[in-house]
Amino acid sequence: MTAKILIVFYSRNGSTEALAKAVAEGANAEGAEVRLRRAREFVGPEVMALAQGWKENAERMNALYEAPTEADADWADAIIFGTPTRFGNTSAELKAFIDGLGGLWFQGKLNGKVGSAFVSTQSQHGGNETTIVSLYHPMAHLGMIIVPTGYADPAVFKAGTPYGASAVSGASALPTDDEKEVARFQGKRVAQVAQKLRG
Ligand SMILES: Cc1cc2nc3c(=O)[nH]c(=O)nc-3n(C[C@H](O)[C@H](O)[C@H](O)COP(=O)(O)O)c2cc1C
Repeated sequence: MTAKILIVFYSRNGSTEALAKAVAEGANAEGAEVRLRRAREFVGPEVMALAQGWKENAERMNALYEAPTEADADWADAIIFGTPTRFGNTSAELKAFIDGLGGLWFQGKLNGKVGSAFVSTQSQHGGNETTIVSLYHPMAHLGMIIVPTGYADPAVFKAGTPYGASAVSGASALPTDDEKEVARFQGKRVAQVAQKLRG
């Protein structure tokens, strides 16, 4: 049996989405079964109208990716969370999904699953590491085994962080090849660890 991996992300401009796809490529290359899910809007249409493209991007992505469910989290051997930073923290949209996992937490059903996280920020020091670490907090409470990228691959010396893959969208709207390479490595690493834990 191959490892089952849930990649759940939020994205408005497409940068975190592109990282999510690269993480999925890395996991798929290891033979993992991957579910790619986009957390849904948490704000009203008046907020989505504040920036050009947000509404259209959300419609495009919502047509491509199903919304994540509790059943997806229960199904997975590993959950990889992806979020744009919001003031150095996880987006409310992704956090709302995580906060909906209380039932599984109560039953201990996430204990021992692998957890990992990646991020997109606008600026280089705009909170990429703090945002990933903010996702470590719920992962710890849920009993997950946190897998960071470390410097376990040469790609992490060129981009990303040792905590997880990251993209700096201010430099280029979509992730660079180096940033995507770290994301692919993260997907591969999580798939390998989840596979080993399955035994
Ligand atoms: C309310 C809000 C807060 C944000 N806070 C930060 C921040 O603290 N640091 C930063 O670098 N970018 C910040 N950003 C920018 C986004 O995180 C950044 O554009 C990201 O790359 C968007 O990812 P996406 O393309 O997946 O939507 C913020 C954006 C919004 C709307």
